[in-house]
Amino acid sequence: MTVFLSFIVTLLLGAPMALVSAVPNVTVTPIGRGCSAYPNWYPSPESDTTGGFRFRADQADNSSINGLYSSVRYFPGSNGLRSGNIVITPNTMGATPGFCCVNGVIEDLYLTTAPAVTTIYFSASLYDAQLTYLEDGGKVETYAHEIGGVRQDGVFIGAGNVTTWGFKYQPASASEPDYIEMRLLGPNSSDPTTGKPLRDGEFKGFLKVEGL
Ligand SMILES: *[C@@H]1O[C@H](CO)[C@@H](O)[C@H](O)[C@H]1NC(C)=O
Ligand SMILES: *[C@@H]1O[C@H](CO)[C@@H](O)[C@H](O)[C@H]1NC(C)=O
Ligand SMILES: *[C@@H]1O[C@H](CO)[C@@H](O)[C@H](O)[C@H]1NC(C)=O
Ligand SMILES: *[C@@H]1O[C@H](CO)[C@@H](O)[C@H](O)[C@H]1NC(C)=O
Repeated sequence: MTVFLSFIVTLLLGAPMALVSAVPNVTVTPIGRGCSAYPNWYPSPESDTTGGFRFRADQADNSSINGLYSSVRYFPGSNGLRSGNIVITPNTMGATPGFCCVNGVIEDLYLTTAPAVTTIYFSASLYDAQLTYLEDGGKVETYAHEIGGVRQDGVFIGAGNVTTWGFKYQPASASEPDYIEMRLLGPNSSDPTTGKPLRDGEFKGFLKVEGL
């Protein structure tokens, strides 16, 4: 009996480890020039602009974050500039209204209080490639996913042909509600000291862009 029970326990405890990762093995193809692959693109000879969109976590290994929307953590920066980074929020009310694309660069659609930097780039740190204000670690790019030659629904966000992100749940603190941090798992995103590809508590997923 004891042996049988411990066998069951082993099965139960072992089960999550045996599960195939929810993040599928996709073929990534760059799509669009400048802003053209974003939702609500307004093509015109003079401008390369879109209407509003936001980001959603997609096909993540922690399925409870799938479909959750982007939000922004703003910080007072030097010279009165506001810095910040884009995260995913479990709180529907905290979701940011949106972003747009202007000449191939993502901008905060609603941050109008001057002085403010509204453009969004990757962080300059490869180990911490979050989407940030006041930094320029490279432009955000748009991609299509294919599985077995079949185009998957949606437009995915990444850079350098990488669209897999590391997400990490950050519990609420005294000054801020809980949020899910995200960084692109590009080249040199592994821990520089341990060489581990993911941080403790971090899980993989994609970031989809959705029109408002
Ligand atoms: C993912 O797909 C690529 C190309 O089809 C293949 O080389 C690779 O072995 C696959 N990886 C896994 C983990 O299935
Ligand atoms: C998964 O995400 C939820 C938030 O949607 C969070 O409460 C939970 O702690 C996360 N689990 C892990 C293992 O990160
Ligand atoms: C990304 O993939 C495309 C083919 O889909 C290739 O032409 C391009 O050189 C790749 N870019 C990088 C940075 O690897
Ligand atoms: C990644 O790190 C290796 C050494 O760890 C270095 O040689 C390489 O230049 C780095 N790549 C980039 C893109 O910085």
